[in-house]
Amino acid sequence: MTILVTGGAGFIGGNFVLDWLAQSDEPVVNLDKLTYAGNLQTLASLCDDPRHRFVQGDIGDRACVDALLAAHRPRAVVNFAAESHVDRSIHGPGEFIQTNVVGTFQLLEAVRGYWQALPDTEKAAFRFLHVSTDEVYGTLTENDSPFAETNRYEPNSPYSASKAASDHLVRAWHHTYGLPVLTTNCSNNYGPYHFPEKLIPLVIRNALAGQPLPIYGDGRQVRDWLYVGDHCGAIRRVLEAGRPGETYNVGGWNEKPNLEVVETICAILDELQPRADGQRYASQIAFVTDRPGHDRRYAIDARKLERELGWKPQETFDSGIRKTIAWYLANQEWVRNVESGHYRDWVAKQYGTPA
Ligand code: NAD
Ligand code: DAU
Repeated sequence: MTILVTGGAGFIGGNFVLDWLAQSDEPVVNLDKLTYAGNLQTLASLCDDPRHRFVQGDIGDRACVDALLAAHRPRAVVNFAAESHVDRSIHGPGEFIQTNVVGTFQLLEAVRGYWQALPDTEKAAFRFLHVSTDEVYGTLTENDSPFAETNRYEPNSPYSASKAASDHLVRAWHHTYGLPVLTTNCSNNYGPYHFPEKLIPLVIRNALAGQPLPIYGDGRQVRDWLYVGDHCGAIRRVLEAGRPGETYNVGGWNEKPNLEVVETICAILDELQPRADGQRYASQIAFVTDRPGHDRRYAIDARKLERELGWKPQETFDSGIRKTIAWYLANQEWVRNVESGHYRDWVAKQYGTPA
């Protein structure tokens, strides 16, 4: 028994691989292109672990995926690989279309070929789990109900449009070919190993560096925050017991305006690592130009996952953000290596090939 994880050197995929191997001896083949967001230092604790096999490659490279499937015969594929940052998608949407749409298509085709040739019992047990986002549902007003699985797709950014397209492909491969797919649509994650371009790790990093904490627009946009370990638990549960062809929304029941998130981080840092000059970290907050097309509010109704599969998040925002800040304070070297680009040297050092 083996699973194939794609994008397992990124933030959520990396946490998923670490959690998986902490709880199970089932080996993981980890296919990741190592874009700027892929960081093998996240997986350094597994470098001598025979249960983890890392392969640098692209989900859109059909020959590479075909060969991996044939060699390792996984019982499941969990697809995290994607371009994930909304701001980058606004500056350059091309990579998002390439990986999130064309890459997912190529991956589905490779998996379909592999799955169709499996013996009947393995074929019935096989799963393709596609990790997606709440952003496919568009934006909510203050009084709207949280996104349910039945909400229509109304993506607003190049990123969310590319993820919506990938979800549609996954759905169609189930309806047309019978591929046993599962799709999860999750809200904003936070936690260890989060690339410091996203709000929470960026604010922690900038606060400690004495730099401005950039808040887009009025800072009243709302996100529904989920601790990454809870997301990994939800994916394991859906993989184990989800019904093929179904989608499951995953969220933390933790709606917070951005300004409140940043103020909370500042207050915890004031307590754990006060500024040398006695000033409060919140004094570094700076309002900056808004993100074009910025979605106002996301919120997830995760009741289907709780009702059908018994999953509920374990962390509150207070417990999760404290864990996260403590992790960043204890792992400043991980952050410094990302900033300096040295994390990419790790690939050459460890695997003998440049990233
Ligand atoms: P990330 O940007 O941190 O990591 C993405 C990983 O995918 C990187 O390791 C990168 O090298 C790899 N990758 C990119 N293109 C690839 C390709 N063509 N082939 C193989 N590997 C490739 O992203 P993340 O935040 O960990 O998100 C993982 C998945 O979860 C994405 O599909 C994203 O849309 C989804 N998601 C993220 C969040 C969130 O809050 N971060 C929330 C909901 C859903
Ligand atoms: O909702 C799930 C999505 O969450 C995932 O699908 C995406 O992959 C992930 O990147 C995340 O998207 P967001 O755009 O919500 O995350 P980000 O951390 O970029 O921004 C969170 C909020 O903070 C958003 O309202 C924009 C705002 N923001 C962000 C940055 C980077 C700021 O105000 N200032 C900033 O500097």
